[in-house]
Amino acid sequence: MACTRRTKTLVSTCVILSGMTNIVCLLYVGWVTNYLANVYVKVPEPVPEKKLEEDSKGETLRIIERLDRLENVVNQHIQETPQKTDGNAGAESFSDSSLFAHWGQDLSPESRRVALKKFQYYGYNSYLSDRLSLDRPIPDLRPDGCKNISYPANLPQVSIVFIFVNEALSVILRSIHSAILRTPSHLLREIILVDDNSSNEELKEKLQDFVDETNAQRAGFIKVVRHAKQEGLIRSRVSGWRAASAPVVALFDAHVEFNVGWAEPILLRIKEDRTRIISPSFDNIKYDTFEIEEYPLSAQGFDWELWCRYLNPPKSWWNQQNNTAPIRSPALIGCFVVDRRYFEEIGLLDEGMEVYGGENVELGIRVWQCGGTVEVLPCARIAHIERAHKPYTEDLTAHVRRNALRVAEVWMDEFKSHVYMAWNIPQKDSGIDIGDITERKALRKRLQCKTFRWYLVNVYSEMRMYTDTIAYGVLKNSLKSDLCLDQGPDSDNVPILYICHGMTPQNVYYTSTQQLHVGVLSPTIDDDDNKCLVDVNSRPRLIECSYATAKRMKLHWLFTQGGSIQNRKSKRCLELVESSDNEFGYQLALQKCSGQRWTITHLLTGSTL
Ligand SMILES: *[C@@H]1O[C@H](CO)[C@@H](O)[C@H](O)[C@H]1NC(C)=O
Ligand SMILES: *[C@@H]1O[C@H](CO)[C@@H](O)[C@H](O)[C@H]1NC(C)=O
Ligand SMILES: *[C@@H]1O[C@H](CO)[C@@H](O)[C@H](O)[C@H]1NC(C)=O
Repeated sequence: MACTRRTKTLVSTCVILSGMTNIVCLLYVGWVTNYLANVYVKVPEPVPEKKLEEDSKGETLRIIERLDRLENVVNQHIQETPQKTDGNAGAESFSDSSLFAHWGQDLSPESRRVALKKFQYYGYNSYLSDRLSLDRPIPDLRPDGCKNISYPANLPQVSIVFIFVNEALSVILRSIHSAILRTPSHLLREIILVDDNSSNEELKEKLQDFVDETNAQRAGFIKVVRHAKQEGLIRSRVSGWRAASAPVVALFDAHVEFNVGWAEPILLRIKEDRTRIISPSFDNIKYDTFEIEEYPLSAQGFDWELWCRYLNPPKSWWNQQNNTAPIRSPALIGCFVVDRRYFEEIGLLDEGMEVYGGENVELGIRVWQCGGTVEVLPCARIAHIERAHKPYTEDLTAHVRRNALRVAEVWMDEFKSHVYMAWNIPQKDSGIDIGDITERKALRKRLQCKTFRWYLVNVYSEMRMYTDTIAYGVLKNSLKSDLCLDQGPDSDNVPILYICHGMTPQNVYYTSTQQLHVGVLSPTIDDDDNKCLVDVNSRPRLIECSYATAKRMKLHWLFTQGGSIQNRKSKRCLELVESSDNEFGYQLALQKCSGQRWTITHLLTGSTL
């Protein structure tokens, strides 16, 4: 549930990937580190100061700067990755861990060692959690008007489901305590704990003791569902739903704290219309200090890789000037509350998905396309721990990508191409086994759902469409086919040549209007614009496409697969020129065409180039 908040802060490949998985970053950085080592080996010792100064005008420094930045980001990931062995964490990593940036300065070395080990295991500060009250108060972060709203007494009851795997016991218990404390008791039917095959010992006896004690006072109040093998977050939610008996089911992670009055507004909205699926507004529990951090009111959406992201609430919501009003939302971030029977009618979650990721997006799209609605309520607030790293299998990317392709194939019609483009994989013969989707397709037919175009136009109008893209992938020159066009550092607008790695900075999109977009495919109109390749005074530059268009810059390129890339206006060609200043021996130039040939990886189905 670590969703993207703004793209503006996503400065490098790894930050962009951080929501996905550290593994890709690590692979990339493994490579980067090797590469850096090689670079340093090549530099004669001692490094002459002058040489560096000269270089600073060339590409080298820019590349080094870029690598440094990537390294910083990645170092952080490496440190916070759970330790594979149960051995002692290296003492040297003590002072570096982000755990101790704002916390724990006064602890003894022994306590720090224990705290760090727990942090590396859980992804949050369970050492501190163990020492905080289970009933601790949290600040009431509801907008002012919420406190004055009164609710009818006859609201439907709710079953609260918590799913977890190897979660710290104190964190689970605090989730349960806050639910009991801040849900009116006549509205809370039961609590259901779904243990997705945790191996952690304390989650067996000690948790069971707590359950038994509670149930001794109130029979059957807490139910426990234990998975005999790990099923992943998606099927865990469905297991929890199956065990629930109240008319409304709330599906949550087990690292949350409920705020006052969270339940009434949600139950009222569902009582009024059972086809509403509701998300509370989320605040953050900081993983190191456990302080509550207020998050701005948001809707919930996704990008074209189908990663969830927070969105600015729609204009219509702002126009009402009522900050307690429901926020219409294109999708869900992961935790939600739903009418129990309606959830089944609409098709639960896609249980053919694996582990994690994409299921929330699929649910949002499906509910809208098939006649329901999704909304976020400002008066229902829940604080949630955003972990420093995730406990499920480390190679999340492969699962998320596979899940995204299932959504694309079942729900997105002609726009499925966008998902393939965003992941930079071919639309035909991708080599990725997405499993059987016939049941999901039958569900769509049975529910007589609307098209994805309808959804984009009527529900998620902030999403950018890329219907004029005809080719995508990395762009290589036949002169040096291990180098790719790359957007270079974000700090400037100069494209560079770089060893091909196929990550976001090397994504290129060629359109039927003859534009070349370089870098990440901007998901919504509220994010930064795409960068277009432009001829600026005979130099290749990357300029925001809308700006370049408005200023009538030279942004159109004649390109055929295996042919030259020639500017339509200036007639100059994008070519490689030898350059001894450059680490790779070549740099980009715009010059009189000499017949150099370029290729792009993928053509969209039905397009020719
Ligand atoms: C809420 O109600 C109290 C008294 O009932 C009133 O004084 C206050 O102005 C109200 N606040 C809002 C925001 O309506
Ligand atoms: C977890 O799964 C293994 C097999 O995958 C099983 O032997 C074990 O009993 C399970 N643990 C629990 C608590 O269900
Ligand atoms: C603001 O929204 C709340 C929640 O939907 C509603 O109860 C209230 O009447 C609205 N206030 C106004 C002034 O429209």
